[in-house]
Amino acid sequence: MNIVLMGLPGAGKGTQADKIVEKYEIPHISTGDMFRAAIQEGTELGVKAKSFMDQGALVPDEVTIGIVRERLSKSDCDNGFLLDGFPRTVPQAEALDALLADMGKKIEHVLNIKVEKDELIARLTGRRICKVCGTSYHLQFNPPKVEGICDKDGGELYQRADDNPETVTNRLEVNMNQTAPLLAFYNAKGVLTDIDGQKDINEVFKDLDAILTESGQ
Ligand code: AP5
Ligand code: MG
Ligand code: ZN
Repeated sequence: MNIVLMGLPGAGKGTQADKIVEKYEIPHISTGDMFRAAIQEGTELGVKAKSFMDQGALVPDEVTIGIVRERLSKSDCDNGFLLDGFPRTVPQAEALDALLADMGKKIEHVLNIKVEKDELIARLTGRRICKVCGTSYHLQFNPPKVEGICDKDGGELYQRADDNPETVTNRLEVNMNQTAPLLAFYNAKGVLTDIDGQKDINEVFKDLDAILTESGQ
């Protein structure tokens, strides 16, 4: 099962990806998480990505495509994978298609989580993330049992560097501009499904899961 999870910043891609990969036992490939890990480690990739991410801009296609190519070639992707936040531009989608074709694979589902802009801003500015396992919480919508502490492992919660109001505005604008052509690209292939992301977290998962189960694989 080869899946792409699409949605504007704050739509709930990471939140839903955690649930999907747990149930379907496939790797979660988030380009945003990979860039943040590289920044943390101080690698060359991290230095390159940071300047773009801090402004809420997209990292150049050739850099992003390169890390996805490397990741998809690993053997844990043999039985499927879940891409979160990639592709984000038509050139990335075309490169992904070519890459998968070489491996005798294709994307079976593109699930597009739709949420209104005001709700996205509220979700992003109130988000907190576990330093240990990366789980997303929200101060109001999905608070941890103990303030500032992850329910799963007791890790400390932090706020992402790009979740401040100015960067959030930029991220939304940049991503909105790229979204329409990308949706058209996947719609034409007949693999796109829109999902109402305004519902609560478990309801959204039920809807996503129904699509994945219904397809029989
Ligand atoms: P990335 O890390 O992918 O960030 P993003 O796309 O901005 O999306 P987010 O991770 O912010 O949101 P999400 O949809 O995962 O929401 P979440 O589940 O956390 O990318 C970061 C940057 O890296 C980009 O800006 C770019 O610079 C670069 N980059 C990455 N990929 C790239 C690419 N392909 N090309 C070029 N550059 C790239 O949920 C958000 C909050 O809402 C949480 O607090 C959560 O608890 C809450 N929440 C979730 N669902 C619900 C719900 N149903 N109801 C209420 N609250 C909810
Ligand atoms: Mg995310
Ligand atoms: Zn944790």
